[in-house]
Amino acid sequence: MQELIKKIEQLKKDRQAIILAHNYEPPEIQDIADITGDSLGLSVDAARLDNPVIVFCGVRFMAESAAILAPDKKVILPRLECGCGLADMAEAAALQKMRREKPSAVVVTYVNSSAEVKAESDICCTSGNAVNVVRSIAPEKEIIFVPDRNLGAYVQEQTGRRMTLWDGFCPIHNAIGEADIIKAKKTHPEALLIVHPECRPEVTKLADGVCSTGGMTDFVIQSSAKEFIIATEEGMIYPLRKAHPDRIFHPVSPNAMICPDMKMISLEDIHNALEKLEPVITVNPETADRARLALEKMLAVPRN
Ligand code: 13P
Repeated sequence: MQELIKKIEQLKKDRQAIILAHNYEPPEIQDIADITGDSLGLSVDAARLDNPVIVFCGVRFMAESAAILAPDKKVILPRLECGCGLADMAEAAALQKMRREKPSAVVVTYVNSSAEVKAESDICCTSGNAVNVVRSIAPEKEIIFVPDRNLGAYVQEQTGRRMTLWDGFCPIHNAIGEADIIKAKKTHPEALLIVHPECRPEVTKLADGVCSTGGMTDFVIQSSAKEFIIATEEGMIYPLRKAHPDRIFHPVSPNAMICPDMKMISLEDIHNALEKLEPVITVNPETADRARLALEKMLAVPRN
């Protein structure tokens, strides 16, 4: 493994490449990355970095967003099959149909979506800024929120805005129920509960904090508590433990919350990607131009 890491470091220099990794990636991938973070943080980085090559360790919609925001750079996703069950639940044609039925509505699209769906949207959001994105929309405007009904319900509850919610969900977060939370709280009575807003409303309502993965890190920094139950994909436990060795983090339900797409990329894949400079993520330029408008509008809104 040390030999492989050395080769990756050398190739990275030769290619002037930078490695970005999402908080759910396996520990060895997070450790070799130059930057780790949540969807919003990584999109912002992709847009501001000077490196001509970005190796994106995450899932396809994240690499696509980076490619849209940085069209002059080569964005490489080491394994093309890394998809997102939630993103697959919304199709551009169905969204166009909904838009025709509600022509004056503003379409707010969670970044966990395809470039084609983003291109049909007015503004994007991530779990880190969804509340502020919706607050930035004039109160008299009707809103269609795509594709996560759980994040949409949370934003509705926070903002008091009624929205038409697309019927999509993350299969990993949606699988956590109230009973899992009650059990975890009983097992760890001293712990604070931090929940990702892709969880169901009956779960978020029990939380001490509802945050994006990046927001979870900030929540822990700001809290004086010693122990936390983390209700999101289990990969998030690693950066939390690494940054706070003096605190205790419990996955809410370790067996249930594993996203297979986030566990696909290996160090070998990163090495091969840097050596061959592929697979490159490309987005049709006309789709990319329209999707970029929605992403850039989002980036202009302050984070929660
Ligand atoms: P974050 O933006 O909170 O990192 O969420 C990413 C994600 O895809 C959750 O399933």
